[in-house]
Amino acid sequence: MPQGTARRIPIRDLLNNATAGEPVEVTGWVKTSRFSKNISFVHLFDGSDTRTVQVILSEEEAQSLKARLGIGASVKVQGTWVASPGGKQDVEIAAKEITIIGDSDPSTYMLQRKRTSFEHLRTIAHVRSRTNTHQSMIRVRNALSWQIHSFFQKRGFLWIHTPIISAADAEGAGELFQVMVDDDPTSFFGTPTFLTVSGQLQVECFAQSHTDVYTFGPTFRAENSHTKRHASEFWMIEPEMAFADLDDVISLIQEFVCEVAIGTQDQLPDDFAFFDQRIRKGVLQEIRDVVSKPFGRVTYTEAQEILAKSGQAFEYPIGWGQALQAEHERFLAEVYFKGPVFVTDYPTDQKAFYMRLNDDGGKTVAATDLLVPRLGEIIGGSQREERLDVLVGEMKRRQMEADHLEWYLDLRRWGTTPHGGFGLGFERMLMWLTGMENIRDVIPLPRTPGSANF
Ligand code: 4AD
Ligand code: MG
Repeated sequence: MPQGTARRIPIRDLLNNATAGEPVEVTGWVKTSRFSKNISFVHLFDGSDTRTVQVILSEEEAQSLKARLGIGASVKVQGTWVASPGGKQDVEIAAKEITIIGDSDPSTYMLQRKRTSFEHLRTIAHVRSRTNTHQSMIRVRNALSWQIHSFFQKRGFLWIHTPIISAADAEGAGELFQVMVDDDPTSFFGTPTFLTVSGQLQVECFAQSHTDVYTFGPTFRAENSHTKRHASEFWMIEPEMAFADLDDVISLIQEFVCEVAIGTQDQLPDDFAFFDQRIRKGVLQEIRDVVSKPFGRVTYTEAQEILAKSGQAFEYPIGWGQALQAEHERFLAEVYFKGPVFVTDYPTDQKAFYMRLNDDGGKTVAATDLLVPRLGEIIGGSQREERLDVLVGEMKRRQMEADHLEWYLDLRRWGTTPHGGFGLGFERMLMWLTGMENIRDVIPLPRTPGSANF
């Protein structure tokens, strides 16, 4: 049983492995307590498990500590692991010694036993991780990250640590947070710099040297979107493969989404049981049902035809050249395909400059978005333009300044390859897997327009 430097045992290990009769020491926070004539106990959590451990107090301890063992107090318990005579648990701790580490005055403590709304919890995000939903969410974030790394590591993709500060607007959408000191945008680096919106352009360098690579880190967008699925700071996973085309990218996405979804569910059965029962009924099976089958696939042009024939009244206009809005994306995934669907070959003008032009006179690009029920787009990917002359032509057509992108063009000058990749919004994947409806509730300390507390 790994215990680090402390003698304490994580509650998870205790509940799974300890043998009755063993002396044990646990630390944690009080979730509930009950003091009565016949029996007094507290339930402790420590973040390692969905379950709490029950600690039985002697009458003497109960009397002396009653006032200080309310919700939120941090404690150390030394005792014996014994078979539990009644109640829900098979085993419990018979306390020998209880030490209050940190008092918590229940009359002022921010989390009371009654259920609190997610809206309210956002205003106390520094302590909401002690509530059931956020206890689980923190573990699911960790497990999903682990599964993502494991997926790529098993396939030999190398994790590249791309920079956070960048001089390039990778997506060309102009949604940049500027980085500066002394009110002068150029004084520090000699050129205007921004927080990265995507590590893709940089990770492409390493695809051109190490073939299969990925970046996984925070990205920043200054879009003034007040929706449930946009954050100003979010995490993105971006693999990039050399010697690959759009079909290779699509195959990778299919395998990736299936494997990490199932892997994360399997890693944390108790946490997913919680989301399944308390947050979105049936979400566990809903995801399992769709990920093991091939996702749908349509071109943007076909998708517009489907929307036109649907007879649905949409708020935003449809037709070739119109952007697919969230309502359109959700119709395609929820109603028409009844599961995730790849939309490919978008109009050139709707997408970033680096996407490979199709052989249709520049009308469309070799792009794909993966749309899923409830959320719409969770992944955006493409084959990249590897032909120097075509890329330069496209950048000119868009009137882009190429000065700070010469290095990007160099990748096409020497040893260029067909290549491509995708970007998954980590928080969107979390929302999809857990049924949580607001991106603010799947990030430990969210940043959204007007809100950067904690
Ligand atoms: O579609 P996007 O903008 O694609 C890129 O950035 C490419 N460079 C990816 C690549 O090909 N390497 O963003 C990718 C994903 C979106 O599909 C969405 O899931 C997520 O990032 N995303 C956001 N998530 C939360 N809040 C926001 N403001 C987001 N903007 C994009
Ligand atoms: Mg996109």
